[in-house]
Amino acid sequence: MTQPDLTGIKFFIQTFGCQMNENDSEHIAGILSAAGARPVTAPDESNLVVINTCAVREKSVEKLYSLLGRLSKFKKDKEYLIGVAGCVAQLYRSDILEKKPCVDFVIGPDNYWKLPEMLKSHFQEKFIATQWYRDWHEIPEIQRTTAVSGYITVMEGCNNFCSYCVVPFTRGREKFRPAQNILSEAENLASMGYLEVQLLGQNVNSYRDPETGTGFSALLEAVDQVQDLVWIRFITSHPKNIDPQLIHTMQQAKSICHQLHLPIQAGSEAVLKRMNRGYSRKEYMAVISHLKDAMPDIALSTDIIVGFPGETEADFQQTLDVLEQVRYTNIFSFRYSARPLTAASRMEGSIPLEIKKERLQRVQDLQKKLQSEMNQAKVGKIYDVLCHGKSKKDPQVYSGRNYAHQVVNFSSGQECEGKFIRVHITGSGPYSLKGRAPD
Ligand code: 5AD
Ligand code: SF4
Repeated sequence: MTQPDLTGIKFFIQTFGCQMNENDSEHIAGILSAAGARPVTAPDESNLVVINTCAVREKSVEKLYSLLGRLSKFKKDKEYLIGVAGCVAQLYRSDILEKKPCVDFVIGPDNYWKLPEMLKSHFQEKFIATQWYRDWHEIPEIQRTTAVSGYITVMEGCNNFCSYCVVPFTRGREKFRPAQNILSEAENLASMGYLEVQLLGQNVNSYRDPETGTGFSALLEAVDQVQDLVWIRFITSHPKNIDPQLIHTMQQAKSICHQLHLPIQAGSEAVLKRMNRGYSRKEYMAVISHLKDAMPDIALSTDIIVGFPGETEADFQQTLDVLEQVRYTNIFSFRYSARPLTAASRMEGSIPLEIKKERLQRVQDLQKKLQSEMNQAKVGKIYDVLCHGKSKKDPQVYSGRNYAHQVVNFSSGQECEGKFIRVHITGSGPYSLKGRAPD
């Protein structure tokens, strides 16, 4: 198929949300560039703005609408297009076009590959592209935003229907990318000099190769064989799909970081059940023990939701207790917010905002204390750090991440960007480490 020509289009992409969305924006940029369009770095230099939205938590629509308010001043004529992509697009579809006349098109996550064709055939007409496709659509060109760590999508969608979560409605059912394509992308990144890859999906460890039926551990083992990749990470894993084979693979592999993001969401058995998470607290804690037994240096992180409908103070205490027991390297914590179409949005026992705020503060205070202690104990150690570039706060200082995915800010007399540097840790805070590279 010949690509429709979009020469003359100068696009700017605004991204909200997680790594998955960042990677989707790299895909959209690749698709548009392959069709002849050109990226620019500010909306006022562009004639096409794509807003890639996230709908996981509340305020997504307000955030989108306020940005549209600001962007609409650039739209003086019909030659300036504004498109809404991502989960909010999938969820609200025609509502967006009705409520915001400045929007020209709405495109859901399963439809990006069609964007050039849609733009070409509907230029200056409004369109909505939010169909679901059963097959995997390979994106031939990706325009990456960093040259150090490369994202690789391995699967899309989710079948779990956690009762609070909108993702199964915005990203659809699970769809897996052929392992061969994943491996080619990993090899390609390694040959371009990337030292790290991060395999991405809503639920990476439910992966099955659509061609051979082999699972996630086999995929990891194959990526581990790629020459010159030093670190491999993957996100997000579901606790119910962590099996002994995966733990064994992580332990034996040469390049897989001993680091795992394993969202627990809540510490109370009763809350976990109402969340429809598919594991008990006991089962989750057993997985943590197996991981720590196999890899004593493993760095764990998690997601926490506070104030889920019906969460009592005693339930909440159970969440604090998990933090004390597991001692996560870091956590992402959120106040529960009701999302459209979800089962939890219809549950009774809504928790007052004040209590949700107070619980979130307590979670964050406890975790800050634990991280301060754990990081303090790292002073004096030496870590290999993959340097991502200069620190945003202080251009005298380099910034990178260690195997545990912790931020390490360090000084060095040499150019470090894109390299592995041995860093001597000289100081710590709750959210990062500080160090020095030997001269
Ligand atoms: N309210 C609050 N947090 C949520 N998350 C997902 N849905 C909601 C919701 N309705 C959080 C979960 C998930 C992370 C990506 O976002 O912790 O793991
Ligand atoms: Fe949402 Fe649960 Fe699926 Fe994660 S596993 S994307 S929280 S439904």
